[in-house]
Amino acid sequence: MRETFLLLSLLTLSPLLALSSDPPFSCDPSDPSSRNYAFCNVKLPIEQRAQDLVSRLTVEEKITQLGDVAPAISRLGIPAYKWWSEALHGVAYGGRGSTNYDGKIKSATSFPQVILTGATFNPLLWYKIGEAVGTEARAIYNSGQLQGLTFWAPNINIFRDPRWGRGQETPGEDPLTTSKYAALFVRGVQGDSYQGRHVPVLKASACCKHFTAYDLERWGNVTRFTFNAVVTAQDLEDTYQPPFKSCVEDGHASGMMCAYNEVNGVPPCGDYNLLTKLARQEWKFYGYIVSDCDAVEVIQDFHNYSKTPEDAVAYALKAGMDVNCGSYVQNYSASALQQGKITEADINRALHNLFSVRIRLGLFNGNPTRYKKYGSIGPDQVCSKEHQNLALEVALQGIVLLKNNYNLLPLSKPQVSSLAVIGPNANNAELLVGNYHGPPCINITPLQALQGYIKDTRYVAGCGDAACNTSVTIDQAVQVASSVDYVVLFVGLDQNQEREDLDRYSLLLPGAQKDLITSVAKVAKKPVILVLLCGGPVDVSFAKSDPKIGAIVWAGYPGQAGGSAIAQVLFGEHNPGGKLPLTWYPQDYTRIPMTDMNMRANPATGYPGRTYRFYKGETVFPFGYGLSYSNYSHKFVSKTGKLYMNTITNTQRTKIAHNNDHYHISEIGLDACEKLKFPATVRVENHGPMEGRQPVLLFLRWPNETNGRPAKQLIGFDSVHLKAGEAAHVEFAVSPCEHFSRVTEEGKRVIDKGSHFMMVEEEEFEISVMD
Ligand SMILES: *[C@@H]1O[C@H](CO)[C@@H](O)[C@H](O)[C@H]1NC(C)=O
Ligand SMILES: *[C@@H]1O[C@H](CO)[C@@H](O)[C@H](O)[C@H]1NC(C)=O
Ligand SMILES: *[C@@H]1O[C@H](CO)[C@@H](O)[C@H](O)[C@H]1NC(C)=O
Ligand SMILES: *[C@@H]1O[C@H](CO)[C@@H](O)[C@H](O)[C@H]1NC(C)=O
Ligand SMILES: *[C@@H]1O[C@H](CO)[C@@H](O)[C@H](O)[C@H]1NC(C)=O
Ligand SMILES: *[C@@H]1O[C@H](CO)[C@@H](O)[C@H](O)[C@H]1NC(C)=O
Repeated sequence: MRETFLLLSLLTLSPLLALSSDPPFSCDPSDPSSRNYAFCNVKLPIEQRAQDLVSRLTVEEKITQLGDVAPAISRLGIPAYKWWSEALHGVAYGGRGSTNYDGKIKSATSFPQVILTGATFNPLLWYKIGEAVGTEARAIYNSGQLQGLTFWAPNINIFRDPRWGRGQETPGEDPLTTSKYAALFVRGVQGDSYQGRHVPVLKASACCKHFTAYDLERWGNVTRFTFNAVVTAQDLEDTYQPPFKSCVEDGHASGMMCAYNEVNGVPPCGDYNLLTKLARQEWKFYGYIVSDCDAVEVIQDFHNYSKTPEDAVAYALKAGMDVNCGSYVQNYSASALQQGKITEADINRALHNLFSVRIRLGLFNGNPTRYKKYGSIGPDQVCSKEHQNLALEVALQGIVLLKNNYNLLPLSKPQVSSLAVIGPNANNAELLVGNYHGPPCINITPLQALQGYIKDTRYVAGCGDAACNTSVTIDQAVQVASSVDYVVLFVGLDQNQEREDLDRYSLLLPGAQKDLITSVAKVAKKPVILVLLCGGPVDVSFAKSDPKIGAIVWAGYPGQAGGSAIAQVLFGEHNPGGKLPLTWYPQDYTRIPMTDMNMRANPATGYPGRTYRFYKGETVFPFGYGLSYSNYSHKFVSKTGKLYMNTITNTQRTKIAHNNDHYHISEIGLDACEKLKFPATVRVENHGPMEGRQPVLLFLRWPNETNGRPAKQLIGFDSVHLKAGEAAHVEFAVSPCEHFSRVTEEGKRVIDKGSHFMMVEEEEFEISVMD
């Protein structure tokens, strides 16, 4: 023990010699008093260290720690900490603890906006992005350019309505996809393994947000601050909560954020059942809970849920919220204590969670840059070749080919002597990185990338920006389009059309975009290629059916490497395989109120339901849709026709035998569920002509859709790379308790007796569940 200590002292430079850019830290071994603090003793359990720390604080000091800007407690050598940093798809700007990149590090890898990352259906990539983000976060922290290591990402609310301005931040509309994304991104960021054996020291802290049922910004006179999301028990259990459960149970997230909106009349930041009973007790959440910014004030001033500010503070602290983004709780806690609305124990509970996370981040172990595990991560790890290649790979795998008549794509370079690039989204680097971004390592617009392929590339914006209602120059575009071999149009949306605090009202392309496209297509020598840059879906039915529009490509907001990725796809250096992670609805869908949270259709009122699981109307493109330059076939290899529930123990069998037509999961038990697992193998063959990567999506359907059974439900997916002519087996571990179960109207999970159908593309087979 003594030797270890000696080693530490030797490695620790005196404060005078320390670089000015070192991050702030506690428990400096060269400070003799720190040796007396149990909270500095790395050998003690986290809980004991946190408890010791909290016990040393005065009540005034404690209250100062309840906001996202937590001041220093100098007498104990504890520096200030800022809880709010952002890293949605790369370390970002935004947040009071975030960097402004004005130090040694000037940029960070900007991965595609999450919706395109969802389209890869490749869990390994999601983990790797998280890993890269965690590493860059540490590097930036180590260089003294960040004031915290707690990042408020991922956004894992379900993309419920196509108009949602922040849908772009999520991996889409499917609960399983979002659940997997949540767990893998979080594991990557925090330094956990891909398989999920969590590490004692967090590389960085991720945060599952916004808990829960948050997916509306501003629609008519309803804002996220005033919205009461009315959610059924059935929808809550099988749609809104699964990503959060997975983020906590499988991702081991160390942070959660409670949302602005009310859920069934209760603000989440003041909901004990949600924060404490469900998250902490049932899911075993271990970490801190932050309010969305000013969400405690919102309880009082917008929801009018509390009578006084002190009541709002009491609701939040007693519900289990630990830190308020904002200063409201810091301001009103003393009076709340005085009025007896909270006790010091309520504050201690919150502080315990807060300091536990800071200790788990290694911030109470002396200078973290000298701390063995993550201290050596340097600036060279930011924008590294590896991370930049990953950003390109994700964009390539995400891009979705929606239409390709006459095999117009891929273009062959020798056959393109001249190219017109037209559209407001063709030459805007900022647009590529969506929202919640940092400064990317590189800026290459699609126009610039294509100029690298074809020397004679002629560019016309056609209008000023995605709104396409200023500087409209359709005539000029038409003239250029008629003079070249091929035309590529870059249209879609931007952050002035969809973003935080801005939902859309229309699904149509804004302004004169449609006019621009059809005018250009009419005069072009060959059918034109349409590239859509947008997060939420657009109704491009007109382009789908127009024979003069030969190809449609969706590239989301593809991140810093997006321009290159699009060019590689258009010229066939990459065979597209991305699949839509959300339903593309027709414009008519906007007749339903955005405020209707029901997932299930209601024939009585004409309400059509939401997402591929419940919506049966026309689509522009369905969930899971995406073409390729190759043809793939899918076949089930193993066909287990029957699933016998009596593989489970006798006692359990007697118990569940009481249900006539279904088994309650809660009565089956974990051990029995384990025994029911079986593999399902799918043979995928690439019939050519190109090598390519293909996500394989495994669905389950029931014999009918009564009692709120989904039309189908994604139960597994993976991505496989195949050479032309190659075949491979993709194996899915099917867990009937998880994958065959459905949720009753009361919110209970059950497995039906009788038929179930597993489906991959055109293939389907029946599995019968019996006693
Ligand atoms: C919002 O507008 C709707 C429809 O115009 C109206 O029925 C409702 O009362 C309004 N709500 C508020 C809070 O103003
Ligand atoms: C809350 O109260 C304020 C006035 O104190 C009022 O303007 C507002 O409409 C109320 N909001 C709701 C949702 O009742
Ligand atoms: C809290 O108090 C500070 C100092 O008086 C003030 O600047 C700040 O606006 C207050 N915050 C809130 C949310 O009321
Ligand atoms: C263009 O459209 C946007 C909405 O997308 C609108 O906010 C803006 O006022 C319009 N500008 C003009 C010049 O019409
Ligand atoms: C793919 O298969 C379909 C159906 O067998 C066939 O019609 C189509 O021509 C094939 N396409 C390619 C590119 O091989
Ligand atoms: C629908 O399917 C369930 C489960 O297989 C079955 O119990 C039920 O009888 C079916 N209902 C109808 C109306 O076919």
